[in-house]
Amino acid sequence: MGTFSEAGADQLISEAKKNDLGGKLASIEIEESSTKTSLIFSLQEEVGALARALHVFEKHGINLFHIESRISRQNKNDHEFYVECDNSLGSLSDAIKQLREESKYIHILSRAHKTLDESVPWFPRKMRDLDQFANRVLSYGSELDCDHPGFRDILYRKRRKEFADIAHQYRHNQPIPYVTYTEQEISTWATVFRELIQLYPKHACKEFNNIFPLLIDNCGYNETNIPQLEDVSQFLQDCSGFRLRPVAGLLSSRDFLGGLAFRVFHSTQYIRHHSVPMYTPEPDVCHELLGHVPLFADPDFAEFSQEIGMASLGAPDEYITRLATLYWFTVEFGLCMENGNRKAYGAGLLSSFGELQYCVSDKPSIMPFDPFRASIQPYPITSYQPTYFLAESFKDAKEKLRQYALTIPRPFSVLYNPYTQAIEVINGKDQIVNMVRTLRNDMDVVLDALRKTELKIH
Ligand SMILES: [Fe+2]
Repeated sequence: MGTFSEAGADQLISEAKKNDLGGKLASIEIEESSTKTSLIFSLQEEVGALARALHVFEKHGINLFHIESRISRQNKNDHEFYVECDNSLGSLSDAIKQLREESKYIHILSRAHKTLDESVPWFPRKMRDLDQFANRVLSYGSELDCDHPGFRDILYRKRRKEFADIAHQYRHNQPIPYVTYTEQEISTWATVFRELIQLYPKHACKEFNNIFPLLIDNCGYNETNIPQLEDVSQFLQDCSGFRLRPVAGLLSSRDFLGGLAFRVFHSTQYIRHHSVPMYTPEPDVCHELLGHVPLFADPDFAEFSQEIGMASLGAPDEYITRLATLYWFTVEFGLCMENGNRKAYGAGLLSSFGELQYCVSDKPSIMPFDPFRASIQPYPITSYQPTYFLAESFKDAKEKLRQYALTIPRPFSVLYNPYTQAIEVINGKDQIVNMVRTLRNDMDVVLDALRKTELKIH
């Protein structure tokens, strides 16, 4: 079955007949916004079921914006159908009710979206919602630009497609599949690893250098092995609650930052082309594992990264651009002060042999980190940065970022609930009362701990 875009129900029905697909609805997943509802339903092999399912929408006057098919996430031998429909016309609730009757179960992802203002852009409310990003990559697998070092390498492009497929099929809470890297890929990794580890003791920040030996001990970081994303993700979860998700291609800034709100980092799994091991025009596993991962294990840095993600949820487009720029000048190209010396904490620096030395030289211009200034600073993406922003510490940067986030025009506040792995939207009295209750409970624990500490002292 192919993929459909902007297709009408009639076309889908005839397509379903043509492909002899059908059957009883096995499952439905629902995601709602104030103007649009998206559903995913899968079908068992039975003639006519897709046609019947689509007639349900027609019967209840529901207009479909978009429909596409893909391999079922439940069973690779089945297909599932993703449908976006207009919930402002017809009776969507009746349509869903009828579909529900025919399904084995229904999974409602985020019905509460209806409580937000229509002008608020959609954002993930549960960590599971990040599964939807897999369908929204801006480029995929073997699609390389003509100036990419691997553009003319058919084998490399085939390999990239394999990695993209792993990511595309990945779903929340699954282990990230292990990859058997080829000798050539390991050799590329070895070259990068060998060169960079010489520079870290002198130019990387202390948090990075504290964590790096732990990655060697726990995650198989060494010259002869490319660490597996799953092992690294487990390690990060133990350290700071951060985790990795494989990604099939480039995500939009809004989606990528949205992942950070859940302490989820979308990571590539492929490696750069072997012909130029010290260069890559895009993030690869060297950039992610050597540049990003060590600091995601640091609790202060993890909190800082999550703050950027939280600030992005439901933010207007112009603020997404500013937050992406802030991300660039901190998580990618940030410098911090350490005993009077400039040290690198940005992943773009820590994964670049040349720029890591350049950024601590007297060549670039250095400015104190100020999110209001950094968020509007223009920057090149294909050359060394002419300007870097220097943070006093991650804690200080986080506080400044929090102040900046308060200026983003949003009619609600957001809070991450780690117990449910969900974003709580705070826009009503009841939620504020609940927050105060939680705060009071926390204060009781703090007071109890203080009392016991005093008892021990005296
Ligand atoms: Fe990066």
